Amino acid sequence: MKIVHIIPTYNEKDNIGLMIEAIFKTGKKYPRWKNEILVVDDHSPDGTEKTVRQYQKKYPGIYLLTKKKEGLGKALIMGYTCAVQKLHADIVIPNDADFQWEPADFPKLVKKLEEGYDVAVASRHVKGGKVIGWNWFRKLNHDISNCLLAWWVAGVHEVKDHAGNFKAIRVKGILEKVPLYKMMNAGFSFQLHILYELSKTGAKFVEVPVIFKERKFGKSKIGLNKYYLRDIVEYIRSSILIRLDRSASFFKYVVVGIVGFVIQTVISKILIALFINPGVAVTFGAEGAIISNFILNNYWTFSHKKIKGKGMFSKFIQFNLVSLGSIAIQGVTVGVGTFFLGNAYWFILMVFSIIFLVIPYSYFAYNRFIWKSEK
Ligand code: GDD
Ligand code: MN
Repeated sequence: MKIVHIIPTYNEKDNIGLMIEAIFKTGKKYPRWKNEILVVDDHSPDGTEKTVRQYQKKYPGIYLLTKKKEGLGKALIMGYTCAVQKLHADIVIPNDADFQWEPADFPKLVKKLEEGYDVAVASRHVKGGKVIGWNWFRKLNHDISNCLLAWWVAGVHEVKDHAGNFKAIRVKGILEKVPLYKMMNAGFSFQLHILYELSKTGAKFVEVPVIFKERKFGKSKIGLNKYYLRDIVEYIRSSILIRLDRSASFFKYVVVGIVGFVIQTVISKILIALFINPGVAVTFGAEGAIISNFILNNYWTFSHKKIKGKGMFSKFIQFNLVSLGSIAIQGVTVGVGTFFLGNAYWFILMVFSIIFLVIPYSYFAYNRFIWKSEK
């Protein structure tokens, strides 16, 4: 199992050597993992890259990418891409150079992947996790981006801590499916965006509580500086785009439902015109809609989590079971409703149950049971 630790650096000459030592020291306790380190440095004026080159002479498995100063997001996109495509990592673990996230915690994250999770996020916002030493400004900043934007605007609910760098990500079937080349984040909005992209692959997430400490040496690069406004604007933009992308999938699902409804009506009418018993006709019509919904949802609405190959048939059976649930919901609503209100209300009740009960129910069931991560 090959782990690539990705460390973005900008003026971290006093931290990076200690960080390399710390990762290898912890790694040694787990011979079943092969640890390599990839540093992405933006030609730091303090000469961080020189320190890295000295360590490359001391240890094998240290790689260095250097480029012009472009921001944390760009550095991470480059690092992730290199770790997947060139270094062929099985797991990537991004972390900061400054020891705010304790590198000795990385085995806790990797063990979660061994248990079957795909993304294990070090978190300050689950029981047992916390932050030491933030001032009110830093805290306000974090709350706005993390709660207001990431949770409410973008609607990324897979985790509670969206802003940190430290996490373990499975490459096979997960990170390899993320179109990193399309990601354009310059600043820290990358952290939210990558979580969203990972969620689209159907990844299973878990949060691991950790304590976020104060910096060991040097100064933070994120805060009130000339990039601050650019990064905040990018974060807001990114949150809105994520929300729109999510609604697009819901919109497609509604269109698929309408097509299914039309198919059901047409098949039923044709069969009835051929003097087939209406009960039988409607059953065939419903199955026609179910087949159309399954195919269109698989190749369009949920194409990012497409079901392929031999699993297809059993998923189709499950899909039929979920659809039976939808039929039952409509039957019960219309049955109970007309009992109290009178038969004249059947159509309103049916439409009501479709919009308020069936649509949310099946969207949830599809995401939860049908188009979920293949394990
Ligand atoms: N290559 C490169 N280029 N590295 C950068 C850049 C850049 O433009 N800006 C920051 N870094 C590196 C730093 O050297 C450090 O290793 C890491 O990214 C995090 O930067 P800090 O300066 O320590 O920022 P922080 O303490 O505010 O970071 C917190 O917020 C970030 C954004 O949400 C932590 O929670 C980070 O984990 C998180 O990514
Ligand atoms: Mn830091």
